[in-house]
Amino acid sequence: MSRTVSDPLVRLQGIVKTFPGVVANAGIDLAIFPGEVLALLGENGAGKSTLMSILAGLYRPDEGTILFGGERVELRSPRDAIHRGVGMVHQHFRLVDSLTVAENILLGWREPRFLLDLRSSAAHVRRLADQYGLEVDPAARIWQLSVGERQRVEILKMLYRNARVLILDEPTAILTPQEVEQLFRAVRRIRNEERAVLFISHKLDEVRAIADRIVVLRAGRVVGQSSPQASPRDLAQMMVGHDIPVAPKRHLPPGAPVLEARGLDVHGDRGPLAVRGVSLQLRRGEILGIAGVAGNGQRELLEAIAGLRFPAGGSLSFNATDIASLTVRDRWVRGLAYIPEDRLGQGLVGAFTVTENAVLRDYDRPPISRGAIFNWTAAREKAETIVNAFHVHSASLQVSVRHLSGGNQQRLLFGREVLTAPVVLLAMHPTRGLDVEATTTVHRLLIDLSAAGTAILLVSESLDELLAVSDRIAVMHRGRIVGVHPTTEVSRAEIGLLMTGSAPS
Ligand SMILES: Nc1ncnc2c1ncn2[C@@H]1O[C@H](COP(=O)(O)OP(=O)(O)OP(=O)(O)O)[C@@H](O)[C@H]1O
Ligand SMILES: [Mg+2]
Repeated sequence: MSRTVSDPLVRLQGIVKTFPGVVANAGIDLAIFPGEVLALLGENGAGKSTLMSILAGLYRPDEGTILFGGERVELRSPRDAIHRGVGMVHQHFRLVDSLTVAENILLGWREPRFLLDLRSSAAHVRRLADQYGLEVDPAARIWQLSVGERQRVEILKMLYRNARVLILDEPTAILTPQEVEQLFRAVRRIRNEERAVLFISHKLDEVRAIADRIVVLRAGRVVGQSSPQASPRDLAQMMVGHDIPVAPKRHLPPGAPVLEARGLDVHGDRGPLAVRGVSLQLRRGEILGIAGVAGNGQRELLEAIAGLRFPAGGSLSFNATDIASLTVRDRWVRGLAYIPEDRLGQGLVGAFTVTENAVLRDYDRPPISRGAIFNWTAAREKAETIVNAFHVHSASLQVSVRHLSGGNQQRLLFGREVLTAPVVLLAMHPTRGLDVEATTTVHRLLIDLSAAGTAILLVSESLDELLAVSDRIAVMHRGRIVGVHPTTEVSRAEIGLLMTGSAPS
């Protein structure tokens, strides 16, 4: 099928944007055509979100112009951008929890007639949801929705405003494989209506599946363009400028048991048990991967081990002592580190600086504090060590963590948790949001850490990741562990089958 060449919907020319100490966009040209899915690829901190925030009217560029249908336009606010037909769904959602889906979609849009519009809008929202296959109940309140549903609300909000350029910034990072399929169907429908979709993702398979055209950014510049037929290896090459070696896996004899759960029951947020009678044993130096479709109890299991939830039944021992009644902090002091799924909620404090976040766990202990005296020099040294060892790109240690790019936040969190060589590391999606090279680095770090003796419980939605680093793989389904196998003795198909609950007999 050949597409006729048309005029771009939008043209960005010579876009420059600097933040104190960083050039985020260093002169970017980009044309966006109707009827295309344009993927933006690039390392963490390459400038993707910044460029898109400029197009969405959130940031003003220092230099450069934006043309809509050939006309030069200044976007002073997201409202201006929306009126020009640009809508962006951000990495962090911007919905009001206590309002309904329909209210959120209407909010900030034709406010004078808000109440009058509400009833007819609910019907309109329902029609849009049907049309694009984005299921969501217009009467539900945001706090009742899963992250996948919230994202659908954000997309519907932009479609309601008739966006012709829809920007999706890492939309799949938080979705289950089924939800990704649903999103892709909607994206294709939107594209077929001669609109444009800008798609940002670090997952090369996804980009190759959905994009019509790929533009690669590095250090604030466009460094290449590609068709979706390019191999993942070539794309990764273009992104980082060199080949990425794969972390080699080694095999160690299993050490002594360090963590043991027996018959663990844990309640979920909505009441019923999310974890049902889980028993598992983790040995020194071992990586135990937990596979499963998101929402099958993985998060609740890790939170119970970390001390964020008290189990409703069963026992939990760490180095042969019962830890079920210890606090999060006591468990951490004994060597239990935790990388949560929700990095800006449970892991890092967005408003705090890099230094403050680096010592979030041990700010009240030597060497960071002695008695009532807080030692800023020691805190800065620790932050510097993490930043250097884990390549956290940040203009300074004084920057609020919410201003770091997503991938750099994850590096800081990861570095803080593993710097002390914990006895056990609980890692929930540790590579989510990381670029290809950083993902390989984390895999290598996990393997090195385990070789040095740390036992690791790794939850991931990526089978590739689990197969690459785990010694054994356990599968969770509806709160239970439905199978544990040495990685060398199980196939991808068998794991997939267990994940859907159809256990091979
Ligand atoms: N509000 C801000 N204040 C200070 N620095 C910022 C701000 N926003 C972005 N930056 C910096 O600009 C650079 C580009 O960041 P950007 O978020 O655009 O990267 P990205 O390509 O989206 O990366 P990722 O894949 O990690 O999301 C980074 O070095 C980041 O720290
Ligand atoms: Mg980004």
